Amino acid sequence: MENNTSSKKILKKLFSDGYCIVKNVLTDHECDKIVKNLEKLKHKTSNNKYFIDERSNNGQVTIRDLPLREPKIYLKLIDKTVIINILKNIFNETFILDNCQGSESINVKKNYKSLVHIDSHLANKFVGQTSDVVVCFCLNSFAKENGATKIWPKSHLSGVRIQNDKNYSKEIKKKYKYAEAEKGSAIFFLGQTWHQIGKNSNSEKRWGILCHYKKWWIKPSTDWTKCGPKIYNLLNKRQKELFGFTSISPKFNLKKQVRTLKTLRKSSQLNSNYFKTIQY
Ligand SMILES: [Fe+2]
Repeated sequence: MENNTSSKKILKKLFSDGYCIVKNVLTDHECDKIVKNLEKLKHKTSNNKYFIDERSNNGQVTIRDLPLREPKIYLKLIDKTVIINILKNIFNETFILDNCQGSESINVKKNYKSLVHIDSHLANKFVGQTSDVVVCFCLNSFAKENGATKIWPKSHLSGVRIQNDKNYSKEIKKKYKYAEAEKGSAIFFLGQTWHQIGKNSNSEKRWGILCHYKKWWIKPSTDWTKCGPKIYNLLNKRQKELFGFTSISPKFNLKKQVRTLKTLRKSSQLNSNYFKTIQY
């Protein structure tokens, strides 16, 4: 577990450079187990005619919504103590999960294509106002040759949403770094830091899991509150908060002509029979 000193160091580096690599977040055994599962999911999704393959032709395999696909494996990743402690210090208010997805960089040679971008909707220059944070678990070692993530240090201070910038081609020539990291590390980066998936040129495996967190008042990309009773019953208090159960907009009761005043509530106020009492 992280102690205060290292949490402080991580925060300092994150705020100054826009990213920070933290070693030994997962053991080799955990990484191998997860990679095995991701390969299984990759096979399963390739046989699913409804699955949307986003951009494997261009060098990235993406499998979104992992905690809903295999809750027992992925739920424990989203609320790791080391991560929650850092996030608490960045957000200073309730935060939720935007998504948790597998991301593999694959060798597609000349077909590699990928946009430098930020994940935040707003490119906020003020680190104290960071609205979202990404944590990338490195399940294999990340090296330049197998497609380590490219990061533009200090770009979080630019106030530029690079993918929409008219000077895109010129701007991305600025200095970037490959986030080379040992297997089991986690790369933290602020949602406003410019980044891009690297090009896999040696065909070595490069699986990562991207967990994206946001302040509670931003809409997540998946509505986790529709997870159903089976998954709901597996969630601890923190995970319920991350799924957004403590920040659902109140419903107006047409019969009584009232509604709960506040959107944000405490996890202790959540009904354990949530799915029995809810009416859609
Ligand atoms: Fe991204």
